[in-house]
Amino acid sequence: MLEQLHSLEDQALDELRGMSTTAAVEKWHVAYLGRKGALTLFLRSVGQLPPQERPAAGLEANRIKTGLERAYIEKVEALHAQAAAGRLTTEQVDVTLPGRPVGPGHLHVITQTLRDIYSIFSAMGFQVLETPEVETDENNFQLLNIPPYHPARDMWSTFHTTRDGVLLRTHTSPGQIRAMRMYYPQPIRVILPGKCYRYEAVTSRHESMFYQVEGLAVGHDVTMGDLKGVLTEFARLMFGAERQVRFRCSYFPFTEPSAEVDMDCIVCGGKGCRLCKGTGWLEILGSGMVHPQVLRNGGYDPAKYTGFAFGMGPERIAMLKYGIDDMRLFYANDLRFLHQFA
Ligand code: FA5
Repeated sequence: MLEQLHSLEDQALDELRGMSTTAAVEKWHVAYLGRKGALTLFLRSVGQLPPQERPAAGLEANRIKTGLERAYIEKVEALHAQAAAGRLTTEQVDVTLPGRPVGPGHLHVITQTLRDIYSIFSAMGFQVLETPEVETDENNFQLLNIPPYHPARDMWSTFHTTRDGVLLRTHTSPGQIRAMRMYYPQPIRVILPGKCYRYEAVTSRHESMFYQVEGLAVGHDVTMGDLKGVLTEFARLMFGAERQVRFRCSYFPFTEPSAEVDMDCIVCGGKGCRLCKGTGWLEILGSGMVHPQVLRNGGYDPAKYTGFAFGMGPERIAMLKYGIDDMRLFYANDLRFLHQFA
């Protein structure tokens, strides 16, 4: 009986010695020491031996079990140490290598464009005034001559909030009302930059979140000639004296008369391309003389004051300035695109 036990011990230790993977060692453990392992079965059968053999057999089997458990643990530790040593040689890092340089960041191309716009208008005496992106229906529409259910609301597909009468501004024009109420009765010359939101399909020329820069001038003798002069000067300083601009009759409920300003397409030079939809022109802004009722809503008496206003899209301006034919590139966060404007 004891001989049988000793040969089982020798066989187990021999097998274990020759093993080189933890998977094989785990299998070995199950085969000898698991619930149905050879040694476990032997220990269970001790009770069936003749009574005089039981104590010695039980004692010896327990000694062998403890020995095999210890051998198992030592083998597992040895295999782990061997694997770690292997990794240390294969995964060596040369700590003396210089690190990869992390370059300094730079302003986003739209931020740069906004700053160009600010500096051109500040040179013409305009101050920058920021107004809220979350607006009331009253400021965004009603005080700009767009009552509820007016068909002109279709010009601005709107994101409404869960609060009745509160929305994401669809344009920067509500800033006109805020500026007038803030400055009355002084003359005004401000630009109002910021994000706008429209519930519309994103295309190469439209985003659902985009910037606008509103301009507003109010005084005793502000004329349409001033508006044309300011915007033509802006186009000249922004794009160069050789660029063409055209004023096209338009309609906005809050200006009368109204005009849209187009610029000849920088991508195709006016021949027609995807960006300008084959027309050779790209609309960059809407403008007009502030409607008398809007002046009144802002607190200014239209018998004594006149004003002009405009609203431009800096993304469209950047597209023209840098010859970009798809607005979606600005906000796709592709660094290969953005780094071109470092
Ligand atoms: C307006 O939003 C008027 N509030 C502009 C205005 C201001 C008129 C003051 C008169 C007086 P419009 O919807 O055309 O107008 O937008 C003005 C400019 O914003 C456009 O010329 C264009 O450059 C830009 N823009 C409009 N919609 C988008 C859009 N979805 N994505 C990017 N730019 C846009």
